[in-house]
Amino acid sequence: MKDELPPIKFGDYWIRKAEPSDAKEIINCMQSVMDERIYLVGEYYFYTERGEAERLKNPDDLNLLAVLKDEVVGVLTIQRGMYRKTRHTSSLGIAIKRRHRGLGLGKFMINRSIEWCRMNDIKKLNLEVFSSNEPAIRLYERIGFKIEGRKVGQFNIDGKFVDDILMSYKLE
Ligand SMILES: CC(C)(COP(=O)(O)OP(=O)(O)OC[C@H]1O[C@@H](n2cnc3c(N)ncnc32)[C@H](O)[C@@H]1OP(=O)(O)O)[C@@H](O)C(=O)NCCC(=O)NCCS
Repeated sequence: MKDELPPIKFGDYWIRKAEPSDAKEIINCMQSVMDERIYLVGEYYFYTERGEAERLKNPDDLNLLAVLKDEVVGVLTIQRGMYRKTRHTSSLGIAIKRRHRGLGLGKFMINRSIEWCRMNDIKKLNLEVFSSNEPAIRLYERIGFKIEGRKVGQFNIDGKFVDDILMSYKLE
């Protein structure tokens, strides 16, 4: 698989691919967003530091970071479909620490990841988002994602039922 995504600066942040040695900082970043409890399904990061370092070695996936000095403040993951029938697809997840939101990092990282999808012959990029996460949905739509489905009442967030919005970006 081709790899042509060198580190690039966005303001004071470096946007670069993750390395196994980033595992601990990635877990910190993900856990801080999970602790807010309203944006992500998981409430505890699934991998240990060692498991995360292994996961980062998967050449099929993209793990893109926003880094400020030594702190990982944003994590974007693209996981490619694992079957012959799904290898043209991938799914995107993104989490930026609260203090660093609204500065354009999310938009920049997603656009950078779309470049990677193009280089790697991915035709369709999927994501899922809570219907309650309106700023994120607006951002995805501005980038060019389209809503293609909705699982009604899929999540129960502290007694409030919200839908799972399925969105996709076509790379033709
Ligand atoms: C959703 C998320 C990735 C967006 O990244 P971000 O860096 O905060 O967004 P950006 O600064 O790139 O914003 C891009 C646009 O959205 C707007 N925007 C961002 N946050 C906003 C907010 N809270 N309310 C309204 N508009 C907002 C910006 O004004 C900007 O508009 P523009 O493109 O017209 O200039 C980030 O906020 C985040 O990680 N949130 C918590 C976790 C989460 O929701 N993950 C996604 C789960 S599917």
